[in-house]
Amino acid sequence: MYDTHITEKQFRSLSDTVYRVSGIHLTDNKKDLLKARIAKRLRATKITSVTDYIHRIDQDSEEFKRFIDGITTNHTYFFRENKHCEFIIKTMDRSRSLKIWSAASSSGEEAYTIAIQLIENGFSFRIYASDISDTILETANRGVYPMDRARAVPPDLLRKYFQKGVNHSINKIRIKDCVKEHITFGKYNLVTGTPPQSEYNIIFCRNVMIYFDLPTKQKVMDDMVKALKPGGLFIFGQSESMVGIKTPLMTISPSIYRKP
Ligand SMILES: C[S@@+](CC[C@H](N)C(=O)[O-])C[C@H]1O[C@@H](n2cnc3c(N)ncnc32)[C@H](O)[C@@H]1O
Repeated sequence: MYDTHITEKQFRSLSDTVYRVSGIHLTDNKKDLLKARIAKRLRATKITSVTDYIHRIDQDSEEFKRFIDGITTNHTYFFRENKHCEFIIKTMDRSRSLKIWSAASSSGEEAYTIAIQLIENGFSFRIYASDISDTILETANRGVYPMDRARAVPPDLLRKYFQKGVNHSINKIRIKDCVKEHITFGKYNLVTGTPPQSEYNIIFCRNVMIYFDLPTKQKVMDDMVKALKPGGLFIFGQSESMVGIKTPLMTISPSIYRKP
C-alpha cells in the first residue's frame, strides 16, 4: 500500500535538505535509514508514496518539522557517561554560581542528570538545555520517562529526585520540580544558531557532532568556543574525536577541554 522506494535523485535532494537544515550528513549508507524514517511518516500521514510525501513537506512546515525530527537520533539516558559530571564535582569551585549549556540535550536526561548531582553536592547553578527538535523538547519539559531510562541512576537518588507513577503510569517516573526549576529548555539549532559571547562556564556537546561533517563540526566548535567564558570547560562525548577540528581548547582529561 505504501511505496517507500526512493530514487537516487530524491535521496540526494532530501539529504541536501537535511544537511542544510540540521547539519546532519546522510552518507550513502544512510539510505535505508532515511527510507525507514520516511516509511514511518507515510504511515502516520497516510500518504502513499515518497514523491507525494516530498510534495507535502515542501508545502507544510509542520510536516517538514516532523520529517526533520524523524531523522534526528535522540538516544540518551540518565547518568550516561557520568565521568564528566564526577569530574565537575571534583574540580569546580562550589562558591561560584555556574552557567551550564547542554547543547544537544535530546529529551532532557543529560540536563536532569547534571542538575541532580550539582544539587546533591551543594552547587549553585543554572542550565540552559537546547535541541533542534520541538517534539523532543516537549518530552524534556514534561520530565516523564519510561522507568528503564533511569536504570543507571543510583537508587538513593532515584528515590530522592523522581516520583514513581501509579495505576496506568506504573512503569513511568517523573522528575521532581526541585530539579526542573534549575533548567530552561529551548530550541537552538547548532548549525544555524548564533551563540552568545563568553556566557557559559561549562558546555556539554555530547553525541551530536558524530552526525556532522568536518566543516559543520568546525562551525559548531568555533561557536562553542565563543560561548564559553575564559577558563570554561567544553565536554564532548567519550567516543567523539577532535581530529581535523581546529580549536584553541586545551585537553585536560579524555573528552574534557578548557578554554584558555
Ligand atoms: C544522540 S542525542 C544526544 C543526547 C545527549 N547529549 C547525550 O549525549 O545523551 C543527539 C541530539 O542532537 C540533536 N541534534 C541533531 N542535530 C542538531 C542540530 N543541528 N542542532 C541542535 N541539536 C541537534 C538531536 O535532535 C538529538 O536530540
